[in-house]
Amino acid sequence: MDVFERVTELIEEIGAAGATTPEEVEAFRIRYLGSKNILKPLMGEMRNIPNERKRDFGQLVNRAKQAAQDKYDALESALTQQEASQAGAELDLTAPGEPMPLGSRHPIALTMRRIVSIFERIGFAVAEGPEVEDDWHNFSAMNTPEDHPARDMQDTFYTAENMPAGPNNSAMLLRTHTSSVQARTMETQRPPIRIIAPGRVYRNETISARSHAQFHQVEGLYIAEKVSFADMKATLLHFAREMYGEETRIRLRPSYFPFTEPSAEMDIWWGLETEHDHRITKGTGWLEILGCGMVDPAVLQNCNIDPERYTGYAFGMGIERQAMLLYNITDIRLMFENDVRFLRQFASVL
Ligand code: PHE
Repeated sequence: MDVFERVTELIEEIGAAGATTPEEVEAFRIRYLGSKNILKPLMGEMRNIPNERKRDFGQLVNRAKQAAQDKYDALESALTQQEASQAGAELDLTAPGEPMPLGSRHPIALTMRRIVSIFERIGFAVAEGPEVEDDWHNFSAMNTPEDHPARDMQDTFYTAENMPAGPNNSAMLLRTHTSSVQARTMETQRPPIRIIAPGRVYRNETISARSHAQFHQVEGLYIAEKVSFADMKATLLHFAREMYGEETRIRLRPSYFPFTEPSAEMDIWWGLETEHDHRITKGTGWLEILGCGMVDPAVLQNCNIDPERYTGYAFGMGIERQAMLLYNITDIRLMFENDVRFLRQFASVL
């Protein structure tokens, strides 16, 4: 058989070739395109071809090479397509979807939102202040005497570079209460002022099941003309009933805060039915919920509000203890450990 015929036959063979498995496609590649492919020796025949036919022969062999390459490309892409559609066949489109893992709100956030929304519904606006605060807003503006024990290093975390060497209004500290937001708000807003300020506070206390060095408060402040103690009492009773139920009773006990006069602490009637009630109310049936009072005129003065014209009330309450009551949490430390087994229990609470 002459070499022209041989190559022509190979071209036909290539055109007719089929391969459906990866192994067959690879065998095709080795036979026609590999380093020892079947077309190579035919090129060696070139020297036996008469000069005038060399050109035709070269073109014919090139056609064979091109046919092999085209065929290989086609077989390859058919193979990948087939593999892809097989993978598709394994997908069960009727299977139920993978559930999206949902997080949960922290009990402190839940309690804080509940308190804030009760006051928002009666016209209080949310205000904020920094957690790293200066001595002025945390203490001095709030009429806290320079020798007040709360300023002591024992209770207050001061920032290291700013240790107070005696009274110093610009000493920096971690705020010990959200009352600092009262001072900040009164500095920048004119009465009527009606704000609620939720936030984190810090005190240098020994950490135990009952107390922690970081906790949360919600502060309230209302300043306008002719605001009375009776207004405060009505507002706080409304809060207690929204928070703990329509039948909730409150009592105000005289107390002392540097920034309010007169001052009081508010208890709610919890009851004395169970052993647990006895324990958490120390046998009295009453639970202390917040501190409050009429804003001391000296505080208004410090914040450039005319105490002759305006009066107001303020209150501050801790969040953790209320969260512990609402959700039956027995150890405050659980709320700062971020153990998902604890946090997951609040997944269904809105
Ligand atoms: N700042 C007080 C505290 O942390 C609470 C309080 C706020 C009392 C406002 C009266 C008025 O204990």
